[in-house]
Amino acid sequence: MNVIDEIPFWTDADSVHVKLFDLQHQHLFKLLHRLETEMREGRARDRLYQFLADVADYAAEHFATEEAVMRAYEYPFRELHAQEHRKLASMIARFRDQEAAGDPAASLSVLRGMREWISGHLQVTDRPCTEFLNARGFR
Ligand SMILES: [Fe+2]
Ligand SMILES: [Fe+2]
Repeated sequence: MNVIDEIPFWTDADSVHVKLFDLQHQHLFKLLHRLETEMREGRARDRLYQFLADVADYAAEHFATEEAVMRAYEYPFRELHAQEHRKLASMIARFRDQEAAGDPAASLSVLRGMREWISGHLQVTDRPCTEFLNARGFR
């Protein structure tokens, strides 16, 4: 299946310079990678949904962590940031719909979209936030 380039693992370039967030991002990338592998290998839908639920649960946990830290440090853009987080949940729902429609090419492209969303989010949304946190001694 050649629809998607293999989802890469986290690299140093993805660091947001907050240890806890980096560890959580690494784990999220790993889960997406595993989901992609499962898809490539044509796993049964039940199993795929279990992996997808793992991604959704872990993303929710990570977002809750970031949002709690942003609140504690009174990060001024925390509402906008939290709104961005909610977009991933709708991508996950879209992935599930495509899978249910039996269209693996479409679901792989949604999966790639999820990966791109996460990378973009790290650069554009997480990084300004962690710069703010770093300046206040949180790393
Ligand atoms: Fe975030
Ligand atoms: Fe994040």
